[in-house]
Amino acid sequence: MATTLEELTSQIKDRLDIVDVVSRQVILKKSGSHFWGLCPFHKEKTPSFSVNPSLGIYKCFGCGEGGDSLSFIMKTENKDFMDVIKEYAERFNLQMPDNFKKTDKSLKDELMKACSAAAEFYKRNLSGEPLKYLHERGMTDEIIDKFGLGLAGNSGLYEKLKNTFTADVLEKAGLVIERDGRYIDRFRNRIIIPIQNENGETVAFGARAIEKDQTPKYLNSPDSLIYNKSKLLYGLFTAKDAIKSEDCVILMEGYFDVIAAQSHGIENCVASCGTSLTPDHIKLLSRYTQSRKIYLSFDTDSAGQKATNRNAELIKEAFEGLGNIKQFDESYISSTEDKYACEIRVISPPEGKDPDEFIRSTGAASYKKYMEHAPLLIDFQFNNLLNEKNTLKTPQDKVKLVKKLIPVLHEIRNEIIRGEYVRMAAAALDIDENSLLLEIRKMNDAHIVQTVNNEDRIVTIVTKSSGEEEKAQKNLLSLFLVTNPPISYGEIKEMTDRVGFSGETLINVKSTLDKLANTVKNTREAIEQLYSQFAQDEDTRKIITELISVSEAFQNLTRQDFTTVVEENIKRLNRCREEKEYAKNRELYKSVNNDDEKARQEQLKLRDNIMNRRQLND
Ligand code: UTP
Ligand code: MN
Repeated sequence: MATTLEELTSQIKDRLDIVDVVSRQVILKKSGSHFWGLCPFHKEKTPSFSVNPSLGIYKCFGCGEGGDSLSFIMKTENKDFMDVIKEYAERFNLQMPDNFKKTDKSLKDELMKACSAAAEFYKRNLSGEPLKYLHERGMTDEIIDKFGLGLAGNSGLYEKLKNTFTADVLEKAGLVIERDGRYIDRFRNRIIIPIQNENGETVAFGARAIEKDQTPKYLNSPDSLIYNKSKLLYGLFTAKDAIKSEDCVILMEGYFDVIAAQSHGIENCVASCGTSLTPDHIKLLSRYTQSRKIYLSFDTDSAGQKATNRNAELIKEAFEGLGNIKQFDESYISSTEDKYACEIRVISPPEGKDPDEFIRSTGAASYKKYMEHAPLLIDFQFNNLLNEKNTLKTPQDKVKLVKKLIPVLHEIRNEIIRGEYVRMAAAALDIDENSLLLEIRKMNDAHIVQTVNNEDRIVTIVTKSSGEEEKAQKNLLSLFLVTNPPISYGEIKEMTDRVGFSGETLINVKSTLDKLANTVKNTREAIEQLYSQFAQDEDTRKIITELISVSEAFQNLTRQDFTTVVEENIKRLNRCREEKEYAKNRELYKSVNNDDEKARQEQLKLRDNIMNRRQLND
């Protein structure tokens, strides 16, 4: 009988003892029902890493890392889920699911070969009008050659490659598509930009329209065995040495931005390939820039400004939990934790052009000047927000603006510096400084500080988690993970269905738990299934680990107490949501002040103050 992946996973887990697995990398000592050791995922001198054999899980109280035997292997051996499953299925001689494709090396090699052959074909094909177009865009023959630019005509690729590669391979490589039982080229009438992976192998293509009204403007290869858009950055292969040596990277939006910049000697730049930036992209970059200095260089129009803010958010999220976002490089006290900081600056020349046009029309030297003077993200956002004050019409608009400003100010960890920004914002917007400060403090309270007993230092972890609302939701979810709960999973599901959950991760976990409620026999099984379902998703696994910890507080409750916990948390959640609603309507601030120039001068004064203080401290 055929096994499914789920069955195989659980067969493997049955054979893997968590204490054995962890003991390969960590010296464990038993204490009570748990084992303890030094965490392999962060530097520590006293053990805060524990293994719970009865649940088959591990958890570090220092860094929050946690999971089961499979995720431990994945993390410590740097393998992905399927690799681990395959390895252990073989080792334990377990039957593989029938639909396990032989996605092994040979097929990947074939796909890569097909992509290089295609790149070669497109390159030879480049001539006529499209070539002229590239020349007019400032692409010299040398640049065209270096970046392997090519041309896809109406057809021809399939004909050319069909005797060398099977149709299956060409389709899997994203080069052809099946239409009415025939194969046709995916890219037609487009300029071709080959995309290389970190090792310089061609794995995909971006293809730009050349005819008027041809849509979409860019057509990109689909994800494939060898190409994962959310983990690959265009230009990284040619940029990586420069990123390392300059210890910083510039993130751009388009293929041609990267090509123009790199060919004008600004080599440390990359772009995502037709997708938004992902945490994986950021992690990839942080492997190359030690100090994690990231410049954002998008269009300077308002769409570009939005993109800047959106991407900055993503970068910050990716680093959340790793440490502080380094907003004030100058004033940051250097500490061992500093290696987890990250500095985001924004390159934003005043002309409304993308980097490609700017560099070609104004020159690389001028671009580099803007780079040297690129403001920190916080200054960029702060200024943009204060500039918005000219468009305010109603007091309601002002409340909205202040709401956007609060999280920006909240991010400044240095109290003195924050105070000065607050003073400036208050003056510029003519609002009460103290109520602004108060709002920012309220955000502070949403951070929990957890300390772990430790002789030589105190490990302080600031997690984003516990806003009241989030806490209540986590409490509710954790009830699913209580060992031997006094009420059935079905009942827990029913009771927790009475509120809506918010936040993508929590919603995902809730719906997975709902499904599991009907199928699992006990908590251990629920935890196992949860971890496997989210094996590839580190952030969710952290939440699951947190839920397991939280669930310990609700162990051994009577039926009545258990129900009360549910009721209380539902009430709390509803109350939070109500308050949020109220706060929205509250009108906090006085009237609008329109003096833009004054705001700018204040800003300059502030920067001087910061610089002076630093010099005094040196
Ligand atoms: P832009 O529309 O800003 O194009 O898209 P561009 O890079 O400036 O191109 P030119 O200079 O007009 O030739 C930026 C990036 O967004 C992705 C592509 O990766 C592009 O480089 N994109 C854009 C798509 O994937 N599909 C589209 O239809 C448009
Ligand atoms: Mn462009």
